[in-house]
Amino acid sequence: MTELTDTNGPAPAGPVAFPQDRTCPYHPPTGYDPLRDGHDLSRVTLYDGREVWLVASHQTARALLADPRLSSDRRREGFPAPTPRFAANRNRRVALLGLDDPQHQQQRRMLIPPFTVKRAAELRPSIQRTVDDLLDAMVAQGPPVELVSAFALPVPSTVICGLLGVPYADHEFFEEQSRRLLRGPAPADTEDARERLEEYLGGLVDGKAKQAEPGDGVLDDLVRRHLRDGVPDRQEILSLALILLVAGHETTANMISLGTYTLLRHPERLAELRADPALLPAAVEELMRMLSIADGLQRVALEDIEVAGHTIRAGEGVLFSTSVINRDASVYDEPDTLDFHRPARHHVAFGFGIHQCLGQNLARTELEVALGSLFRRLPGLRLAAPADEIPFKPGDTIQGMLELPVTW
Ligand code: HEM
Repeated sequence: MTELTDTNGPAPAGPVAFPQDRTCPYHPPTGYDPLRDGHDLSRVTLYDGREVWLVASHQTARALLADPRLSSDRRREGFPAPTPRFAANRNRRVALLGLDDPQHQQQRRMLIPPFTVKRAAELRPSIQRTVDDLLDAMVAQGPPVELVSAFALPVPSTVICGLLGVPYADHEFFEEQSRRLLRGPAPADTEDARERLEEYLGGLVDGKAKQAEPGDGVLDDLVRRHLRDGVPDRQEILSLALILLVAGHETTANMISLGTYTLLRHPERLAELRADPALLPAAVEELMRMLSIADGLQRVALEDIEVAGHTIRAGEGVLFSTSVINRDASVYDEPDTLDFHRPARHHVAFGFGIHQCLGQNLARTELEVALGSLFRRLPGLRLAAPADEIPFKPGDTIQGMLELPVTW
């Protein structure tokens, strides 16, 4: 990872450095191999030299992610900051993901209805229309195409805009700020991007509050609640809007780009999927497990916790490497193999416990529609550059392809 070598010299011997860049975009970094030796917990070293716990086993991960003695409040002493960017912003208010119960539950309860399985199924036809329109435009333009900008990003961006009530016309602005927020080159970029996004969302929310007839988006609903009950307050609406907008498009976009790349690198699996489209939901689940794009969930211990023969002391940081946990060989046979017939559903790629991904039903539907339609519509789809020359994201952010040149 650049930050490690630039600021601290080579990674120290002993505990493994975390996070590290992947060697292959769909496998955990080879530098994590020592973490995959069957231990439930290991020690890892962060960019600033601090040592924290890293959970590697599936069983311990699910126990600890459901344990209220671990806090998600990043302002607490000892909370592990995996990057300087994260450290610089840890005092900012983060909705849902940065809160513990009962405050977390109060926010989450307001947002359950738009994110149910039923609601995701109702959105399927409009997601299909979005996907078809984008594929029409790609076909009209003709190959080669850069798939991240032509397809992987616009699909979830359009969908989350529709759901929240954010104008898609502003997508270039919020996509660029999200990019700076999640992987801007300097901590100041992250801060600036957050401010700009909040300012933008503030204007949007204030405009909605003045409308005689509010729309039917999630943000319209939050504004209606605010006007009626005073709860949530304006700042809370903005922090909710920010996490929903950013998490709602960046993650799924990365799954579409990296999922496509991975399928193109596994032609037998792709042929199997084409021959039997009923495998699609299982294929999406297995890709979620294998790609584990959100790697390195963070918590801090509120009390001493005895687990798997170790004691995590109050105030110590705990990280969960989803890419390592989802390849626990005691749970998944041949964990490094892509296999659509295994029961992959219990993976932790969407997290586990009270913070388990709010958007998972939506994400699954988007992935099924996007990947299913892409490979059906373009049977000759292939990479338009040597596979090992296509750039992918560094290890200190959500994993995915930076670009994906394809032809057909
Ligand atoms: C395939 C795409 C996605 C992946 C891999 C993903 C991954 C995750 C993970 C791992 C967590 C838990 C983090 C933790 O416990 O520290 C999470 C939480 C969350 N995700 Fe997703 N996510 C995806 C799509 C989405 C979408 C489409 C939305 C839509 C708004 C979304 C919104 C959220 C929110 C709001 C939380 C926080 C929930 C809470 O704290 O209660 N995610 N996601």
